[in-house]
Amino acid sequence: MTGGAEVVSKPYVLYGHQTWRWYGKYLRDPISCFLEAREIYGPVGGLGNPLPFLKDGRQHVMAFGAVPNRIVFGQPDLFRPGGQVLRGPRESAQRRMRRSIFAMHGAEHDRHRRIMQPPLSRLAVASYAPAIAGLIDQVLDRWEVGKPIDAYHEMLTLSNWIAAHLLFGEADFERSLAICMLIRDWITLDVDVRTLHLRPTVPGTRVRRLLRHAEKLEAAMRQLIEEKRSAGAPGNDLLSQLIRAHGDKDFAMSDDELVAHSAILHGASFLTTASTLAWAMYLLAQNPSVAAELDREVASKLTSWPPATGEIEAMPLLDAVLKETLRLLPPVHHTFRTVAAPTDALGLPLQRDDRVIMSAFMTHREPSVYPDPDVFDPSRWARSKPGPYDYIPFSAGPRLCLGFAFATLEMKMILARIVQRYRLALVPGSKIDVIYRLTLCPSAGVPMTVEPRDGAYSTAPVSGNILKLVRHGRPGL
Ligand code: HEM
Repeated sequence: MTGGAEVVSKPYVLYGHQTWRWYGKYLRDPISCFLEAREIYGPVGGLGNPLPFLKDGRQHVMAFGAVPNRIVFGQPDLFRPGGQVLRGPRESAQRRMRRSIFAMHGAEHDRHRRIMQPPLSRLAVASYAPAIAGLIDQVLDRWEVGKPIDAYHEMLTLSNWIAAHLLFGEADFERSLAICMLIRDWITLDVDVRTLHLRPTVPGTRVRRLLRHAEKLEAAMRQLIEEKRSAGAPGNDLLSQLIRAHGDKDFAMSDDELVAHSAILHGASFLTTASTLAWAMYLLAQNPSVAAELDREVASKLTSWPPATGEIEAMPLLDAVLKETLRLLPPVHHTFRTVAAPTDALGLPLQRDDRVIMSAFMTHREPSVYPDPDVFDPSRWARSKPGPYDYIPFSAGPRLCLGFAFATLEMKMILARIVQRYRLALVPGSKIDVIYRLTLCPSAGVPMTVEPRDGAYSTAPVSGNILKLVRHGRPGL
């Protein structure tokens, strides 16, 4: 067995029928499942095979907090991500599309990360700012004062446009958008099939639709790659940059890899940013003093649009609001790792193929790191700086989110521009329920009214499980 120097204190282990309740609860509502399991048993424990008479059942471990995060995220070859999409039959487009960076390990993963890093580096990302600024205004121009919007829907549209621009370019923007819609539908179908626990080897309408859709998407992507390549791939978009890297033998990617990476990058980027932004808009609307302070910060620091170099980075409250939103409602609520070899690194015996569930949501509610963890309090970021494994909305360790710099710039620009142009108020009486569906998102949107930027910030009464998950109350910095 490979071990870990840090031992997790007193992990619990449940067996057989004792685990049924927790597996059922997890499938219905992972948010409540984690909160309750943590409360009753503690931060780390195993749910054994629920059907012990079946030999190949695997154990699932829930491991919440900085210590297990460091052990698991710090050893990506022992605790491997399993790929984000369903494994299709051999030789299927679905199987090929699964082979993205998310499913790679070891040297192969390192090489692909090195190839994808330059176009997503902090320096490169700054060059996308003018294009992002234009797209933000295109969406915000459609809003009318006095009219309702669904903040989540608007942010889905905007982040989809920005992802289309970043990944496939503006030269034929309609086409870039059409491919993004194909990717979005593919991911939605994939999640549906996984939620219903259908196997692609078992024929069924939904599975067939998924496999057919994967073929359609793959064909559209291949054609786009072919056309870009024969035109010399001159664009600044990510796909063109990766195609151009093809000439270099160390940086060459196959077409299958280009297709898989592009599809999963779109999925990884647009749903996560849309959910975060919708939550930030909700939290600002319910915290008038923070919203008013942010309004003042934007008024004094954002002097041009697109923002001048360094302007967005020089807004501490904007930074704190985003960090606090990602702390309280991290879009990637939890992730899985598969154990590659027997180990007791987490303080309990784990076998190959056991799975570990890691949760940003639970990590971010550790009271010793975040006093009053349920309270939206951007000012906490001026008082303390949590360690890299205490704050993991973008994961941690060698597989930290590659889009971190891009997502941060994009989300800050969007929030700053909204505050600069409008005041958004929640529609009183709205029901705001948080669900986990690929990301932690509002189940029925976030209904808001567009108001003039008049500084008249005030809260609105709402219902829904958001009230159990987030409390309001502190001023800004
Ligand atoms: C709010 C926005 C975002 C959040 C919260 C987020 C979060 C995450 C998390 C938690 C992971 C690790 C997943 C796991 O280990 O299972 C991840 C990985 C990744 N993300 Fe993001 N992400 C965001 C936006 C983006 C964007 C905009 C891009 C690209 C343009 C991107 C590209 C990636 C890639 C390529 C990986 C895989 C890295 C690897 O395995 O080495 N993400 N992200």
